[in-house]
Amino acid sequence: MMTSAAIRQQFLDFFKSKGHAIVPSAPIVLKDDPTLLFTNAGMNQFKDYFLGNKKAPNTRIADTQKCLRVSGKHNDLEEVGVDTYHHTMFEMLGNWSFGDYFKKEAIEWSWELLTEVLKLDKSRLYVTVFEGDAKENLPKDEEAWNEWKKWIPEDRILLGNKKDNFWEMGDTGPCGPCTEIHVDCRTDEERKQVDGKTLVNNDHPQVIEIWNNVFIQFNRKKDGSLELLPEKHVDTGMGFERLVRVLQQKQSNYDTDVFTGTIAAIETITNKKYDYSDSKQAIAFRVLADHIRAISFTIADGQLPSNTGAGYVIRRILRRAVRYYYSYLDYKQPLLFQILPVIAKQFENVFPELIKQQDFVGKVIKEEEEAFLRTLDKGLKLIQEVIEASKASKIIDGKSAFKLHDTYGFPIDLTKLIATENGLGVDEIGYEEERKGQQEGGRSASALDTEDWIIINEGSESKFIGYDSLETKTKILRYRKIKAKGKESYQLVLAETPFYAESGGQVGDSGQLIINNSPLIINDTKKENNLFIHFADAVPAELSGEVIAKVDVDRRKAITVHHSVTHLLHAALRKVLGTHVAQKGSLVNEEHLRFDFSHFAKMADEEIIAVEKIVNEKIRENIPVVIKQLPKEEALKLGAMALFGEKYGDVVRVVIIDPAYSVELCGGTHVGNTGELGLFKIKHESAVAAGVRRVEAVCGKAAEEYIDAAFGVLNTIKETLKNPKELSKAIENLQSENAELKKRIENLEARQLVGIRNELLQKDEIINNVTFIGSIIEVPNADALKKLCFDLKNHIHDHVAVLCSNIDGKPFVAVGISDVVVAAKNLDAGKIIKEHIAPLIKGGGGGQKNLATAGGQDTSNLKAVIEKVKSLL
Ligand code: SER
Repeated sequence: MMTSAAIRQQFLDFFKSKGHAIVPSAPIVLKDDPTLLFTNAGMNQFKDYFLGNKKAPNTRIADTQKCLRVSGKHNDLEEVGVDTYHHTMFEMLGNWSFGDYFKKEAIEWSWELLTEVLKLDKSRLYVTVFEGDAKENLPKDEEAWNEWKKWIPEDRILLGNKKDNFWEMGDTGPCGPCTEIHVDCRTDEERKQVDGKTLVNNDHPQVIEIWNNVFIQFNRKKDGSLELLPEKHVDTGMGFERLVRVLQQKQSNYDTDVFTGTIAAIETITNKKYDYSDSKQAIAFRVLADHIRAISFTIADGQLPSNTGAGYVIRRILRRAVRYYYSYLDYKQPLLFQILPVIAKQFENVFPELIKQQDFVGKVIKEEEEAFLRTLDKGLKLIQEVIEASKASKIIDGKSAFKLHDTYGFPIDLTKLIATENGLGVDEIGYEEERKGQQEGGRSASALDTEDWIIINEGSESKFIGYDSLETKTKILRYRKIKAKGKESYQLVLAETPFYAESGGQVGDSGQLIINNSPLIINDTKKENNLFIHFADAVPAELSGEVIAKVDVDRRKAITVHHSVTHLLHAALRKVLGTHVAQKGSLVNEEHLRFDFSHFAKMADEEIIAVEKIVNEKIRENIPVVIKQLPKEEALKLGAMALFGEKYGDVVRVVIIDPAYSVELCGGTHVGNTGELGLFKIKHESAVAAGVRRVEAVCGKAAEEYIDAAFGVLNTIKETLKNPKELSKAIENLQSENAELKKRIENLEARQLVGIRNELLQKDEIINNVTFIGSIIEVPNADALKKLCFDLKNHIHDHVAVLCSNIDGKPFVAVGISDVVVAAKNLDAGKIIKEHIAPLIKGGGGGQKNLATAGGQDTSNLKAVIEKVKSLL
């Protein structure tokens, strides 16, 4: 039996022999594409090549790509584990032609690979071809049909509709007709009984699609129309796990060596057995074996679990897994992190990024599991109650679903899953309303409405020239209107731009476009795929002529120093804390820098000082910053620290600040020499997530301002203290003097209270055989009043006392009653306070039967308070 590793290798070798460059998988989380949360197909990283925004370095490429289909247009999450052939993360084997070969070769080679190299039984294969679509004005794919005819009998070529045979990446983007290859894995007996072709695309677990060949010819635009692309391309995707299953002749993907190692590990940990069935226990095994891959690879690619966006998708997957082992494998401790090493080892040579970060990823997963396990039990109890209460309506209401989410961390899809298991639905609209209500109108991302581009001048590339110049004459290529939160604004693309677009943590530039001599303010610049997008609140009517693009120079300078110093900081952290420190995120703007990195303990003060010292030394050395443009692969060889998000063919800049000190892949702007950075100062160090710390720091002018502000405070303190020679000594003296005075005041007050008490004891009168003390007295605070009332008990044993005081304009009252009087006269101090005194002083209070207090607003009735208690007695 061929191993999965050998199968993967055969695919890559085959396409290498057909002139393809073999490239590494792009990260699961792609930078610069706001239309996607995750890589959901092998072609994502090549989107710009298809659209013609960028030229491919190679017209033939093949790879295995980590993909995630758990959100957006392609979402398989609910199927995962329940069936045996859908996954959250899967590997997509792909070969691409960028304006090179087309249908003839793509079809011929896919047939050759499957039947000649991998030796699949030809009689078990079916192919589908696009039948055309009248509404879209798309013809039947005759060309693909005719190519297939050369290889496979026509009765096994099937026509498919737009849903199955016209592939689109998302709501917008590259698309085209496709031809799919399906394989019938049933027994010969079953095949005799039912013709395989009737089962193609019919959700039969043994008749499955393994390969999709897309012929990319169009760009789907926002308005729904299809635009013909300048060139024709091939985009293919083969489900690796399915291919392995077919070749290893298994009934289920989970029975192949892609998953058996993980399943065995789960068996050992839980002491339960996996069987191939539909039982909840079997589903739990499959869910865990699947989900651990998605969770660990995504974290390794730089996406931490969080409460929003892509991070929340990962948290949801992780919580789905936790609930499965908790409920169906009866395992109540963190489990996923224990199976991580199996995955890391298994993929060591294919996706080495996981094993390299195994410690870090394991710690993040374990902490996430622990956090959810803390609330899971209570949440499960609540959902059981909700389920009982919803038996009649058959639907879990939005409020309860939201409470489960908000209080117990149940993602909505987990609530849906448990509801479905109990034959119920969930009011998702109600849930959304509750959620939005809490967020006061919800977030803006979903409210973003983007119109199609309006072309002003021809040209396909927005060339960035802002490393060397901050001002240039150029042209506007296109613009579009966007609406967010009810506000309209504009996005513009230029032929050439000096504006740096937000990326690598560095914020986008702002500045001006001078159009016909009047300035148009540019608020921000962002990148979308390969386009530099300039943001403006308005646009003038005439945009076609020459414009001058001018970056705000001072702001850019302040941003740049913070970027360069971030590199010095990164290297210093690795020196002081260790080489496990890796960048997890950063923000660089004109005011400061924020740097997130993997590390497990709070930084000690000495460590912070040591880091500052190294960075400032490097600044004083005035080291030249050397920048080289290299393909990513070569840069890595130089020892550059790889940051996440780069994809194949990206020509990266390597920023070198002393080759022995700091070499990083970085597209940001940098100073010429470190001396320009001035002074470096760390402002804060804190935790952001499990195993991730954050440093906030300043340099250059911002550091000067920070120090000035700190000295300002210091000088004010000095002046206030009359410029003592030794400031800290003076403060210490002040503190001990203060403590001494406090003590003396307390003594005096205590003595004063004794005096008052003695006076009160002399002013008693006897009413109904009970000693009554009622008085308005002067005390420093409400606590003293209470203490005094309590103290009377030590000197008198059959009394009712009511003490009132006006403290800083507010009335306070304490009532004390001896226990014998409480019993004999059936009196209750708490009740007296609540029912009789609180209304008189316009306030509230309470306490015990023998001691109660109140505070209020109205001091005019204190005499009446005393009379009231007296009359009650
Ligand atoms: N893009 C196509 C798919 O994802 C083929 O790679 O199915």
